[in-house]
Amino acid sequence: MISINAPQIDQEEINAVVKVMKSGVLTHGLGAGPMVTEFENAFAKSVKAKHSVAMNTGTAALHSTLAALGIGAGDEVILPSFTFVATAEVVVIAGAKPVFVDIDADTYTMSTKSIEKAITKKTKALMPVDLYGLPADMQPIREIADKHGLKIVEDAAQAHGAMYDGKPVGAFADAACWSFYGSKNMTTGEGGMITTNDKEIADTARSIRSHGEKTKYQSLMLGHNYHMPEIEAAIGCVQLKKLPGFVARRRENARRLTQHVEKTKNLKPPMEPKGSKSSYYLYTVRYKNANREKRDALVEKLKREGIGAFVCYVNPIHLMPYYRKFGKHKLPITEKASEQVFSLPVHPGVTDEQVDFIGKTVQRLTR
Ligand SMILES: Cc1ncc(COP(=O)(O)O)c(C=O)c1O
Repeated sequence: MISINAPQIDQEEINAVVKVMKSGVLTHGLGAGPMVTEFENAFAKSVKAKHSVAMNTGTAALHSTLAALGIGAGDEVILPSFTFVATAEVVVIAGAKPVFVDIDADTYTMSTKSIEKAITKKTKALMPVDLYGLPADMQPIREIADKHGLKIVEDAAQAHGAMYDGKPVGAFADAACWSFYGSKNMTTGEGGMITTNDKEIADTARSIRSHGEKTKYQSLMLGHNYHMPEIEAAIGCVQLKKLPGFVARRRENARRLTQHVEKTKNLKPPMEPKGSKSSYYLYTVRYKNANREKRDALVEKLKREGIGAFVCYVNPIHLMPYYRKFGKHKLPITEKASEQVFSLPVHPGVTDEQVDFIGKTVQRLTR
């Protein structure tokens, strides 16, 4: 099976882990041992951010950022429903209410038109998601946020190596949150990072990461144990160096696959708006005019051919049993996308021959 994603690990990561294990320093009481500090500095530099705070997951990064911004009970946060559930989950964990808005039918990222309609006196923040590795349309989102005095927490969990307006993603947000989960463009197994130019957000998130402490046994606020282990940071340092190569390979695979997909009138390849550079965390195609059954049947057929096709996301969050209590949301573009999209493998381990096989198989099955 050509898997939808696969961690790209070799001897260099293994050596880095062994080195940490032999050093005897596996963690640090306040969350930043030598490897975590090195990883934070390198990551901040790579996205041109002033500060970075490593976390044990992307979910922890998102939650800590909302908490650091003081978002809590009585507040509302606007976000897309077409994303991984963690984006909404952290709003609820922070004590605030998620308000879901629709997406753009071509990019699958938050529709800027729908944001202003959803703003109320309770709105405190916007959470655009760089879905599938394609940056959300951050310029207009920044303008809306500034006009209404809102913060932007960008969910960049899928967007390592993506660019918007010539800058690494995150540049237009108050803070960006990243994930290093095993499937991501670069991984530490599990892990996360906050990047920001705002010192206060970074300092507060650092305390939240470590039981609300700045010095040991002096909790200043409610915190958590969100420490990234030293071993993970060591893997992260190696993976970060390889990231440009990984993204280049994904982009080349995506370019080649699009040549096949374009030959099929029933399929719509992913689009990359001018000024955006996708990291192609997922290469996502729309099966035009298909319903859920027809799309699911195609995915099953592809799997039988050895192609790990995958659907992100079959259930928009506003329709999930737990999240229905946050109100009725009318999101027709989101619901349509959840019935028609599917993703195909383009990770760096996929060869040219495999891309051609995937492309030809998809053409044959959708004729
Ligand atoms: C869009 C999005 N947001 C948040 C997360 C949460 O990251 P993590 O799994 O590292 O907690 C993920 C990834 O899993 C994601 O894809």
